Amino acid sequence: MHSLLALLLLLLPWRSSAVEGDGFCSIPQSITETRSRPLYWKVTNPTLSPSHLQDLPGFTRSVYKRDHAVITPESYVFSPLPDWVNTLGAYLITPAMGAHFVMYLAKMQVKSKSALPPQDVERFLFVVQGSAVLKNDSGISHELPVDSYAYLPANYKHSLESDDTVTVVIFERRYVSLENHYPEPVIGSTEKQPLLETPGEVFELRKLLPASAPYDFNIHIMDFQPGEFLNVKEVHYNQHGLLLLEGQGIYRLGDSWYPVQAGDTIWMAPFVPQWYAALGKTPTRYLLYKDVNRSPL
Ligand SMILES: *[C@@H]1O[C@H](CO)[C@@H](O)[C@H](O)[C@H]1NC(C)=O
Repeated sequence: MHSLLALLLLLLPWRSSAVEGDGFCSIPQSITETRSRPLYWKVTNPTLSPSHLQDLPGFTRSVYKRDHAVITPESYVFSPLPDWVNTLGAYLITPAMGAHFVMYLAKMQVKSKSALPPQDVERFLFVVQGSAVLKNDSGISHELPVDSYAYLPANYKHSLESDDTVTVVIFERRYVSLENHYPEPVIGSTEKQPLLETPGEVFELRKLLPASAPYDFNIHIMDFQPGEFLNVKEVHYNQHGLLLLEGQGIYRLGDSWYPVQAGDTIWMAPFVPQWYAALGKTPTRYLLYKDVNRSPL
């Protein structure tokens, strides 16, 4: 028995160092490295894979400036959403940046349930992953799978519930009312929305909300093939919250040019010069908040 244990202890260090090179009692990695690789070998053999660049200590593509922000997934910080059940949220755009709306990701877990937005605040939600059930106060429920969405007018009682994991992107803002105009709840699905005319532009556009006066914002879904770009270098009074759903490209914001990819969030303040080119090998799709139908005064 004892001799067997001794034999095991004797063999163990050899085995682990042969397999992974960093086990208990194994030869320190620095020594093996200098033996097999020349000094400063990383200078002549640099790591060019983008995934390795993003693993650099302290590295992030996120930026936050006066008139725009790019918030990338390695910077997302999730914490429990107030009054929601079993849900973690990451607020990505808030009025603290200068926005008049919030944009956040909600990660709903098993047996989760939403809370209502504050008084007089309207809500738009879009399912990014999984499938949730939207219920109103009469107990009427709708299944919302990926790519479907709902608009809930201010003070409209509802709840979003799920028995499984669901990820939802949510926009909320204080509703700007207009005399004799009352928005209705909207439930829809992206692929059921018609493609709209985009004179002078090549991208494909869908609007998820009615373009009529009761609605003080809209959500656009924009599709680009690789190589397509915005014709107009836009500068306008509207503000934007953008979630890149698919693809990659370059977003110009002010004097800065940002490589962006699916999962990234962008905040655009009024009047920031903005432009996008879809690059890479896959189409780009992004979802875009835009305030509309109200005087800026
Ligand atoms: C719930 O939704 C149904 C169907 O859209 C609607 O007829 C009903 O009025 C809603 N209930 C409330 C309390 O808004």
